Amino acid sequence: MKTLVNGLDQAIQSGHLSRRGFLKLCGLATTVLALPTVEIGRVAKALAGSPRLPVVWLEFQDCAGDTESFLRASQYHDPLQPGVTDPSIVDLLLNFISLEYHETIMVPAGFAAEKSLNDTITQYAGQYLCLVEGGIPIANNGIYCTVRGKTALSIVQQVTASAKATIAVGACACDGGISAANPNPSGAGGVRDAVPGIQNLLNLPGCPANVVNTVASIVHLITYNQLPPADSQGRPYFAYGDEIHENCERHDFYEHDQFVRAWGDEGHRNGWCLFQMGCKGPATHSNCPQVKWNDSTCWPVAAGHGCIGCASPHFWDSMTPFYQPLPDD
Ligand code: SF4
Ligand code: F3S
Repeated sequence: MKTLVNGLDQAIQSGHLSRRGFLKLCGLATTVLALPTVEIGRVAKALAGSPRLPVVWLEFQDCAGDTESFLRASQYHDPLQPGVTDPSIVDLLLNFISLEYHETIMVPAGFAAEKSLNDTITQYAGQYLCLVEGGIPIANNGIYCTVRGKTALSIVQQVTASAKATIAVGACACDGGISAANPNPSGAGGVRDAVPGIQNLLNLPGCPANVVNTVASIVHLITYNQLPPADSQGRPYFAYGDEIHENCERHDFYEHDQFVRAWGDEGHRNGWCLFQMGCKGPATHSNCPQVKWNDSTCWPVAAGHGCIGCASPHFWDSMTPFYQPLPDD
C-alpha cells in the first residue's frame, strides 16, 4: 500500500504555505465547528501529523455545483485584516487529503480512471472518505443513471460499503434534490435512500453545500477520528443547528414590520426584511448568515434576495413557490 504522506510540512518549508495561513485554517475550522479555542492546537497537531486522508468523490445526477463550489473557494479574506489574503482553504485541504478519484477534475480517464477507483477502495478499505455529489435514481434498479456501464445505485452501494465515512455533499446527494422533485420519474433519492442502513453518513444539504462546512467536517473527521455530531437527518449541528432567520442581519426589520414589498422599492433599497418577498429564512436551518459565501463576503439575503430554503429537505417541493411568503404560524 502506498503511504500518503502529509504535505503540510513540505508546503510550509517550500514557502508554498505560510505557518500563519495554516494556523488560520485551524482557527477557521475550530470556529465554524463551534469548538472551544483551546482545541486549535489539537486540530493543528492532527492535520499536520496525520497521513493524508484518501478521498473518493462520486458524482451522479447533478449540475456539478458542489464541485464548482469546492473549486472556486479561492483565497480566504480575513474580515479583520482587509486586503490580507491567504491560500484558499481548498489549497490547504489538498495538503492533508489525497483526492484519489473525482471524475470532473481527475487526470486519468477511461480504464485508468476506473482503476484509480478500484485501487483506492481496495487498498484503503475502511480508511478512505467517500464524498457523494448528486442524486441517485433508485426506480427500476437504478437504470436511469449509469457511469462506466454501472448504475449509480450499485456504485454508491459498493463504494460506501468499505468507506471509513461518507459525506453527502449538497441537496441532491442528501435527498435527491431537483431530480427527486415531484413527480420524480426516476425515483431519485439521496445516499440514505440508496444505501438503507448506511453507517457513518453525514448530510450537508444546500444547493450547493458550503465548502467551508465540507472542509470543517473533514477537519473534524481527521482530528477526532469521527464525523461531527448530527441531528436525526444526519446534518451536523455546527452547520444546521440554528435557524437562518434568528441570525439574519435583517431580523430587526422583521421585528418592526419593516418589509420589502416590491423589488427596488424603498424598503429594498434600505435593506429591510425580505419575508413578504418569499424569504424562507424562518423555515430553514443553516449557518449561511455566519459563514457566508464567496470567501465569507456575502450571502443571498445580504445580496438583496430572500433565502429560498435550499438547505431544507426536499426544498424544490417544500419551499416553492419561492416568491410567496411563508404562511403565518
Ligand atoms: Fe428572516 Fe428572511 Fe427577513 Fe432575514 S430577510 S429576517 S431571514 S425573513
Ligand atoms: Fe440556501 Fe438560504 Fe443559505 S437559499 S444558501 S439556505 S441563505
